[in-house]
Amino acid sequence: MKNRPFTFMLVAASLDGKISPRRRPGQANPVGPELIDDDIMRLHNSKRAGVDAVMVGLNCILLDDARLTLREGEGRSPIRVVLDGLAEMPPAARILDRDAPTVVVVSKDAPPGRVRTLRDKGADVITSGRGRFVDLAPAMEELWGRFGVSRLMVEGGGTVHRSMISSGLYDEVHLIICPFVIGGSRSITPVDRWPFWPRGPIPRYSLAESQVIGDYIYVVYRPIEA
Ligand SMILES: NC(=O)c1ccc[n+]([C@@H]2O[C@H](COP(=O)([O-])OP(=O)(O)OC[C@H]3O[C@@H](n4cnc5c(N)ncnc54)[C@H](OP(=O)(O)O)[C@@H]3O)[C@@H](O)[C@H]2O)c1
Repeated sequence: MKNRPFTFMLVAASLDGKISPRRRPGQANPVGPELIDDDIMRLHNSKRAGVDAVMVGLNCILLDDARLTLREGEGRSPIRVVLDGLAEMPPAARILDRDAPTVVVVSKDAPPGRVRTLRDKGADVITSGRGRFVDLAPAMEELWGRFGVSRLMVEGGGTVHRSMISSGLYDEVHLIICPFVIGGSRSITPVDRWPFWPRGPIPRYSLAESQVIGDYIYVVYRPIEA
C-alpha cells in the first residue's frame, strides 16, 4: 500500500497548450471565471469538494493570491497545501485567512522567523527536504498520516506538476482543454521548466475517461509505468 494520498493533477489548458501568460505579481490573471464557462467552473468546484486537500506551488499564491476554497455555501473547503521551501509566502496572503485549514510545506532551510509568522497566522507546517523545492515524498506521507488526507488534488502550477511527474507520486492527470489560445513561447505550460528527455524517457499515459462539455473537453489520463 502507498503511504500517500490518491493524487491527481487538475489543469485547464488552452488549445495551444498553455495554462497562463507569463505575468508579474499584481497583474490580473486573464484565465479565470470571466473567460471560463460556468459549467467548467462548477466542475472545478465539484472536484475540490471531492478531495481532502488541494495543493499548489508558491507562485500560485504570489501571482494569483489564490484562496482555494469552495464557492460560498457549497460545503466545507478542503485543506489547502502550499509548497513554499523558504517560507516566502506573504503574511497577508488570502490563503492564510482561516476560512479553511492551511498547511505550508517548507524545507529545513526556511528561516525560522518566517516559519513562526506562518504558524502565528494559523497555518500548520510540514518540514521536508532542503532548499527552495521541498521533498514531495515525505510531505505527502505526512499529509496522509498526520492530516488524514486520502484524496489530494494538485492544482498547479506548471512547476509543481513537473515535480509531481518526475517523482511519480500521482495517479491521474485531469486535463480540461479550453476553447481559447494564450500564445507566446514564454507562457506557462501544464508541465513547465525542464523537459523529461534526454535525461530520461518521455512519460506516457492511457486514456481513462473523456467527456465533451460544451466547447470544452475533459480528459482523465493514467500514467503508464515506464
Ligand atoms: N490553468 C490552470 O489550470 C492553472 C492552474 C494553476 C496555476 N496556473 C498558473 O500557473 C502559474 C504558476 O505556475 P508556476 O509554474 O510559475 O509556479 P508553481 O508551480 O505555482 O510554483 C512553483 C514554486 O513552488 C515552490 N516549490 C516548493 N517546492 C516545490 C517542488 N517540490 N516542486 C515545485 N515547486 C516547488 C517553488 O518556489 P520558489 O522557487 O519561489 O521557492 C517553485 O518555484 C500561475 O500563472 C497560475 O495562474 C494555471
